[in-house]
Amino acid sequence: MDKIDAKKLLGGEFSLIFDNIDPIIQELKLEKKSKILDVGTGEGRMAIALALNDYHVLTGELESDESKYAKKNWLKSAKKAEVDHLITYTPFNAEKMPFEDKSFDVVFISGALHHIEDGQAAYNESVRVIKNNGKICIFEPNLRAVGVIREKKFADHPDAVDPREYNSVHKLSLEIKKTSFYDAYIFQKVE
Ligand SMILES: C[S@@+](CC[C@H](N)C(=O)[O-])C[C@H]1O[C@@H](n2cnc3c(N)ncnc32)[C@H](O)[C@@H]1O
Repeated sequence: MDKIDAKKLLGGEFSLIFDNIDPIIQELKLEKKSKILDVGTGEGRMAIALALNDYHVLTGELESDESKYAKKNWLKSAKKAEVDHLITYTPFNAEKMPFEDKSFDVVFISGALHHIEDGQAAYNESVRVIKNNGKICIFEPNLRAVGVIREKKFADHPDAVDPREYNSVHKLSLEIKKTSFYDAYIFQKVE
């Protein structure tokens, strides 16, 4: 299915997020066979956006998470967009990932880092599981977006985090891209 049809089917919220993250996915120019991990499945928007660009994605969230941000039936949306065959789900804790060192080309964490209790541990684990020259792509809502989320959806939504503070011990290279909704932090393990 093409992206325009998928946006129509998945609705306004998906479209808004998709329009913010899709250009950045494309700018990354990842190879189609890239090993991609999506941390914090939620509604599955990040995973579905990647799959709509023909990437295979491994995605997961904390199995014990009973919050309103988890277990959002991502599979139903992925099926609607006809990309479920490109997405594999496995529950895991981002603070202690069940993956080998240097096993992914890119880790995406979209709208999720501020929901993870120990963000530093999740960042450390992301650094561990990416290959040399691998990337960690973190999307955090900007101040205005956090205001909109609080007004329209979750009055108690947490503040966004600045992942640069987690990078101070690792010193990965960083590029920041700003969109109308997200600040995208693209870290790279240059070795
Ligand atoms: C708002 S949702 C993320 C939205 C999602 N990335 C998307 O694109 O639709 C936040 C996610 O973070 C996950 N999460 C929170 N703590 C976690 C942890 N320690 N390990 C893995 N996932 C976690 C939640 O379970 C939830 O799936």
